[in-house]
Amino acid sequence: MAAVSKSVIKSATGRVGVLLPGLGAVSTTFIIGVKAVLRGLGQPIGSLTQMGTIRLGKRTENRRPLIQEFVPLAKLEELHFGAWDIFPQSCYEVAKNSSVIFKELIEEVKEDIDAIRPWPAVFDNSFVKNLDGEHKKSAKSKWDLARMVGEDIDRFKQEKNLDRLVMVWCGSTEVLTQRQAVHESIAAFEKGLRENHPAIAPSMIYAYAAIKRGIPYANGAPNLTADIPALIELAKEHQTPVAGKDFKTGQTLMKTVIAPGLKSRLLGIHGWFSSNILGNRDGEVLDDPDSFKTKEESKLGVLEHILEPQVNPKLYKDLYHKVRINYYPPRGDNKESWDNIDLFGWLGYNMQLKFNFLCKDSILAAPIVLDLVLLLDFAKRAGMRGIQEWLSFFFKSPMVAEGLKPEHDLFIQQMKLKNTLRHLMGETPLTHLGLEYYD
Ligand SMILES: NC(=O)c1ccc[n+]([C@@H]2O[C@H](COP(=O)([O-])OP(=O)(O)OC[C@H]3O[C@@H](n4cnc5c(N)ncnc54)[C@H](O)[C@@H]3O)[C@@H](O)[C@H]2O)c1
Repeated sequence: MAAVSKSVIKSATGRVGVLLPGLGAVSTTFIIGVKAVLRGLGQPIGSLTQMGTIRLGKRTENRRPLIQEFVPLAKLEELHFGAWDIFPQSCYEVAKNSSVIFKELIEEVKEDIDAIRPWPAVFDNSFVKNLDGEHKKSAKSKWDLARMVGEDIDRFKQEKNLDRLVMVWCGSTEVLTQRQAVHESIAAFEKGLRENHPAIAPSMIYAYAAIKRGIPYANGAPNLTADIPALIELAKEHQTPVAGKDFKTGQTLMKTVIAPGLKSRLLGIHGWFSSNILGNRDGEVLDDPDSFKTKEESKLGVLEHILEPQVNPKLYKDLYHKVRINYYPPRGDNKESWDNIDLFGWLGYNMQLKFNFLCKDSILAAPIVLDLVLLLDFAKRAGMRGIQEWLSFFFKSPMVAEGLKPEHDLFIQQMKLKNTLRHLMGETPLTHLGLEYYD
């Protein structure tokens, strides 16, 4: 990310379009949440940009403004929503079927959300096998599909009289795609689009159309999507910030809280078994082994990176880590996870830690979408481009520069995010050294 100074940050005034490929449980919970907050029907709980504070200067200065007062962010009333999906139902209809938000609240915001109807999607069944719908674009080539997505964006921008846009992928998890030659450069990627290369996923087509227009992009699913040299290069060329991958909610959020704690006390771990049941459409898609593989890789990487078995072999060399996701329709969006940790302490004595999280998947994801929209829009106005590692805080599988190890520890991620805000706003980053108070 390029270094910038406060004086070059452009104003947050203006209308912002939020582009959402995938109008499912997460997208609708996010949109309804924003509308409900605007009508005074709920609080934006879980959102760093709406509720978080930031300490500035010395502890004795007592400066702790809200982040939204410190950083020039777009206002919620300036957000306008557009989406794509393979099903034609409106935001209102999808929300009613998703059973995340209470029916009474959905009815209260009905007039705000019923007009949000998805545009036909770019979809390829070989990337999401357990799902299909009729509401799709068709064209001779992936190049044409990218052009059609671009036309949707341009039309939306004009119709809603938007000043800026941000895209967040909230579509289903695609099957695991390995990086290959077609992903390595802009030229190879564009040739691949024209020649319908099978390794260009639908999610990449949306990302390409957005980044090419200088629209900031975030990926809420674990698919490779923008995490390829071609699209990162394109983002740099078009002065566009990108971030991903895979919203860090439920079980992995807890893992990245607990694992750093155990490690900081030098407690060893023999094994960590994580199991989940969930019954929403996301769970149905993840029931396909190929989509699950993408999610599994994203979930498994976390412990390895936090515990660093190669640096701490006596504590973590033999760690056995297993993740299971079980599709169980009766639970809908109410995911339940169980974790069993076999750990050991002083002289190798064994202990166990178990935790059971009964969460609401989309309720945890919605504030992340909002924060990403506002922070990516801010990053763009601050002149940032390419990978935004400081937004790792929101992701299970953070994008980082080639050769760098991703940081998964939630508290380090939070410090990095807040220090980046301090830096961009011309304040001194905090080290928490604090010796000066004892001179
Ligand atoms: N809810 C969470 O806590 C959470 C956490 C991390 C990641 N995610 C990821 O976020 C994504 C959305 O989750 P969700 O619970 O809303 O799922 P969902 O199944 O309710 O919604 C996804 C929507 O995307 C649509 N879709 C699939 N492929 C598409 C395409 N190519 N173009 C346009 N639309 C497409 C589907 O029809 C569906 O309506 C999933 O990939 C999920 O893995 C969710």
